[in-house]
Amino acid sequence: MITTENITKSYGSGSSENKVLKGISVSIEDGDFVVILGASGSGKSTFLNVVSGLEKADGGSVKYDGRDITKLSDKELTKFRKESIGFIFQQYYLLPNMTVEKNVRMGADLSGNSDYKEIIEAVGLGDKLKSYPSELSGGEQQRVSVARALAKRPKILFLDEPTGALDEETGRQVLDYISKLHEKHRFTVIMITHNQNIADMAKTVIKMNSGKIADVYENAEQKTAYEIGW
Ligand SMILES: Nc1ncnc2c1ncn2[C@@H]1O[C@H](COP(=O)(O)OP(=O)(O)O)[C@@H](O)[C@H]1O
Ligand SMILES: [Mg+2]
Repeated sequence: MITTENITKSYGSGSSENKVLKGISVSIEDGDFVVILGASGSGKSTFLNVVSGLEKADGGSVKYDGRDITKLSDKELTKFRKESIGFIFQQYYLLPNMTVEKNVRMGADLSGNSDYKEIIEAVGLGDKLKSYPSELSGGEQQRVSVARALAKRPKILFLDEPTGALDEETGRQVLDYISKLHEKHRFTVIMITHNQNIADMAKTVIKMNSGKIADVYENAEQKTAYEIGW
């Protein structure tokens, strides 16, 4: 379980201080499919970065099964992130001079996992092993980044607007692969979006507004990537 308590964070200081997170407390169960929904600028990315240990909060705690990662040394935090966390961004950040296979293998190598080919198959790119990122569509590139993040078998997969750069068809495809992989492997998914429709895929929806939690609710029924509006 992930528990955050009273997370605060500001940028700038004095008269130009921008309070971005104003005391965020949430609990996320293992294996949940969580969508963090909120308007642009509401603090979603900052919150995700703090929860995943990418950025430090000013105050509050972030506990994984009771272990507070805000208290870890940089070295311990790096180890924790390597072993437990996968992260997918709106931009794919693939290495342009490496093939699909090598990009994904880098993710697998981090944790000594060698069945990376299986995960490339699972995102439908088994026939693109030797292709370079520039030879792929945006949706395919994002699926490579999904495979790279999952190759190390993370316990938690964080996604920051993973379909933000994609058109509808490829966006649905990427979301479909993510939800199928979640169903199969049952890692925890925490995905940011500003698109209300995508929240219909979640089990749990956390709504953010101006650096605060506005609402937390469970969907009675989770829609598939092909059932949601766009
Ligand atoms: N590194 C940064 N330096 C200064 N201000 C930042 C930084 N990152 C985010 N902000 C500010 O924090 C606020 C929330 O940003 P963000 O967390 O990216 O929101 P969201 O992901 O919901 O769009 C915005 O006003 C943004 O300008
Ligand atoms: Mg953002």
